[in-house]
Amino acid sequence: MKHFLSLADYSGQALSDMLDLALRLKDERRKGPNKPLLKGKVLAMVFQKPSLRTRVSFDMAMRHLGGDALYLSPAEIGLGKREAISDVSRVLSGYVDAVMARVFDHIHVVELAEYSRVPVINGLSDFNHPCQAMADVLTIQEHFGRLDGINLTYVGDGNNVATSLLFACARLGMNFTLAAPEGYELDPEVIDQGQDLAKGNGGTIRQLRDPLKAVQDANVIYTDTWVSMGQEEEARKREKVFPPYQVNAELLAQADPSTIVLHCLPAHRGQEITNEVADGPQSLIFDQAENRMHAQKAILVSLLT
Ligand code: CP
Ligand code: NVA
Repeated sequence: MKHFLSLADYSGQALSDMLDLALRLKDERRKGPNKPLLKGKVLAMVFQKPSLRTRVSFDMAMRHLGGDALYLSPAEIGLGKREAISDVSRVLSGYVDAVMARVFDHIHVVELAEYSRVPVINGLSDFNHPCQAMADVLTIQEHFGRLDGINLTYVGDGNNVATSLLFACARLGMNFTLAAPEGYELDPEVIDQGQDLAKGNGGTIRQLRDPLKAVQDANVIYTDTWVSMGQEEEARKREKVFPPYQVNAELLAQADPSTIVLHCLPAHRGQEITNEVADGPQSLIFDQAENRMHAQKAILVSLLT
C-alpha cells in the first residue's frame, strides 16, 4: 500500500514525476475540465486541527477529477479519544478509497497508515507537511523553470513546514538554508537525514543564526508562523524571541531583487511577515496557495490510479 506521509519516503525522480503531472493537470484545468481520473473515488478528510487551504484544496482536487471528498471534523471522530486510531483506520478503509489526515502527533498519521487498506496522506502533523512542500516546489519550478541549484532560505521556526521543505530540497537538488533563533533550529536527526538525502542529489543543507546573512544568496525566502497549532501556550515566549526573524523590507533588501517570497499561510501579518512584503511584487503566496490544489491532484492520481 502506497501512502504519502513524508517526502523522505519518495525518490527525487518520483517527486519530479509528480510535479510534472501536477503541471499537466493544472494546464488541462486551465483549458477546460480535468479528465475524470478519479471518477467514483472518495477521499475521507480527517481533521484534528483547523484548516482553510488543506480542506478546500483537497475537496476541489477530488471534485475536478470526478471524485468526492468527505470532511470529518475534530469533534466528529475524536481520533484516539472516542475511538482507537487503529479502529478508525480499519473502519474508514471499508468505506472510502483514500484518507487524508491532519493530526497533532505525527505518530497518529503513521498509525492510521499502518492499519489502513487504502492510501493515507499526511495533511500536516507536528513533524512535517509534505503536501505543502509539493505545492512550494511546484511554485518555484513554475517561476524559475528549474529546481536544481535553487537556493531556498527559510527564516523563522524550524517547524513542520521547514522539515518538509528541507526534505524536498534535499531530494530535488536544491540548497536549503535555515535561519532560526537559538533553541528553534531543526531537529539534528532531520538535518542528518536531509544531509544524507542531499548527497545523492547535489543539494546542500546549512543552518545560520543571522537572517540577514542567510538571505543574501537566496532565490527563495520562505517563512511561516512563529506559533504553530498546538503551541498556543508558548505564544508569549515565542513572540519575544522571533522578531529579529521577521521577513520585512529590510531583510528582503539583502537579497537580489529577483528573489521570491513564499509563505504556506495562514500569515500573521505584522509578525513573521509584513504587509509590505506579503503584498509586494516579490510575493507569490497566493499562487503558492492555489498550487496546493494542483500538487495534490498529482499526489491523489499517483496514489489512486
Ligand atoms: N497551509 C496550510 O496547510 O493551510 P491550512 O492550515 O489552512 O490548511
Ligand atoms: N506550522 C504551521 C503550519 C500551518 C499550515 C502549523 O503547524 O500550525
